[in-house]
Amino acid sequence: MTSSLISSRSAPAKATAQNAKASPDFAAKLMETKALLQRASAEFQPVTQASSLGAEDVVITHLINSLQLDIPIFMLETGALHTETLALLERTQAHSRAPVVVYRPVQESVLWFIRNEGQDAMYKSMQLRKACCNVRKMEPLARALKGQKAWITGLRQEQSTARAEVPLLDDSEVSTKQLYKFNPLAKWTWGDVWHYIAENQVDYNPLHDQFFPSIGCAPCTRAISLGEEFRAGRWWWEDEAAKECGLHVKN
Ligand code: ADX
Ligand code: SF4
Repeated sequence: MTSSLISSRSAPAKATAQNAKASPDFAAKLMETKALLQRASAEFQPVTQASSLGAEDVVITHLINSLQLDIPIFMLETGALHTETLALLERTQAHSRAPVVVYRPVQESVLWFIRNEGQDAMYKSMQLRKACCNVRKMEPLARALKGQKAWITGLRQEQSTARAEVPLLDDSEVSTKQLYKFNPLAKWTWGDVWHYIAENQVDYNPLHDQFFPSIGCAPCTRAISLGEEFRAGRWWWEDEAAKECGLHVKN
């Protein structure tokens, strides 16, 4: 099930005020999420949280910290993030109880790619866009996940049709990659996410106040308009079906 956002460009308001609306079964979902994170920490070590510092990810980090779980966090700092995201990264590193580890792309590979294909290569073809994602995200992701038994993401079923079946615990890549994937917010709605942020006064990316529901690299993310899909602002020049950078694409 895909959701369109209820927001109005003419009346800017905090994302919390615009979006916070708990589902009737929010308390049960929150209990399930906490139990899953506790299980990940107790039974799936070493485990790590992948955070883009988007709304879902700041909720998970807040839960990890408040439950005092032994789960470090990592972020792929692609070198193409918004200044707002980088500022939130600094604040998170300063305040998080759990360590926040940053992975960056190999600088020579980035320079080589830009020299050969140009700064705006991602707009020229899908092949070049994916090549950029490989250099800036996929190679650092492989380093971040090396030796891990499990990772935790902020994927939600509501985010897109492609994600509609996302399970709470994904074991489909255990045979190929020896890696479990926890998606503790799989069943949360966008309203649930913002309800949690509002209730717990969680620090979040101010781009969410400017109609950026899904935030990635600056060249590949734009604000969305009234009625547009959740991920409409990501790689907006590409087909809906192609809108994944590879982090969550199965072999
Ligand atoms: S993406 O594949 O299109 O980029 P999206 O932005 O929806 O993914 O984020 C989904 C989940 O992938 C996040 O909740 C987070 O777990 C992980 N993720 C995405 N980008 C990053 C990043 N830069 N660093 C670490 N994890 C990330
Ligand atoms: Fe490059 Fe855009 Fe992919 Fe970021 S999202 S790695 S800038 S193509």
